[in-house]
Amino acid sequence: MAVAGRPHINMRQLAKGRKRAFEASACAKAILAGEHAAVYGMPAVCIPVRSLRARAGVDSAKSGVTIEAPDLGLAGEPGAPGFPGGLEHLAAILRETSGALGIGFDRLKLRVESSIPPARGLGSGAAVSVACARALAGFAGLDLPPETASAIAFEIEKIHHGNPSGVDNATVAFEKAVHFRKGSPPRFVDPGRLTFVLADSGPAPPTASMVSLARGKLGAPGEWILSSFEEIAELAVKALVSGDARALGRLMDRNQMLLSAVGVSTPALDSLCAVAREAGALGAKLTGAGGGGYMIACVMDEDAQAVARALTASGAQGVLATGLGGESVQ
Ligand code: PMV
Repeated sequence: MAVAGRPHINMRQLAKGRKRAFEASACAKAILAGEHAAVYGMPAVCIPVRSLRARAGVDSAKSGVTIEAPDLGLAGEPGAPGFPGGLEHLAAILRETSGALGIGFDRLKLRVESSIPPARGLGSGAAVSVACARALAGFAGLDLPPETASAIAFEIEKIHHGNPSGVDNATVAFEKAVHFRKGSPPRFVDPGRLTFVLADSGPAPPTASMVSLARGKLGAPGEWILSSFEEIAELAVKALVSGDARALGRLMDRNQMLLSAVGVSTPALDSLCAVAREAGALGAKLTGAGGGGYMIACVMDEDAQAVARALTASGAQGVLATGLGGESVQ
């Protein structure tokens, strides 16, 4: 079965330019300030997490389009009977990329793998979208500018999240730290040298349900808490750029208090933040939609291993340290 959006070029017409097989990847992300408030037009500060990546490969096939996700143990042909529901996300990316590039895809196999834990606030969905769009475009012999990759991923986020701010797709597609405001072009910033430790508190509910839970506290016009989120994010971006770990840590703690007040933190996330602080972190907060998933702590480089060890000892999964403005400390 061929997959077409609004094709004006057929894959056969691209045969000369196209490669036999193409692989691409995209990174994870973590939000330092402003999640949830970002949905209401407040600023958010988000960084790429390059050591975790989604990878997509496209290969030619004799006929039809097949999608494989070996991590999930799933494979199928979009539109064919028995196509697994768990692959609908990938079929939607294929359609969206087809429409954005004006190419009808046929005779290919799309394979997707990811080291980004899904449903943990690390932008796994956006990374899978960007990796697939890049691999499909590359297979067709086309360049995919990050703006287009971001736009494709944003359309997919809309299907799943209803009203996304766009912060995930912008950070992941450009793989840059971003000072983001919904509806404005993303402003990329050069971060100072900073180190973070991340840890997983366990599965989180879908982003859409956490956004809808937060709406009660954030959705009213003129809601006072939004201006507190805004102030913290504006200060956090300055601390990020100047590499002021102490200031950033304090702001992350303040941001976590607001997220708790909104009701999107959990006892497990609060406890991991406390463990990180006791082990020497300068500040810690949940990252992403909350209700579970990852927390992120800002640390002095020399304290990263102690904080990571304390988090692991407390039972946290998926603990990792990551650097910005320099090499990864992992
Ligand atoms: O889907 P997540 O967990 O990466 O969270 C995205 C951040 C939110 O502010 C909660 C939603 C959004 O669209 O900005």
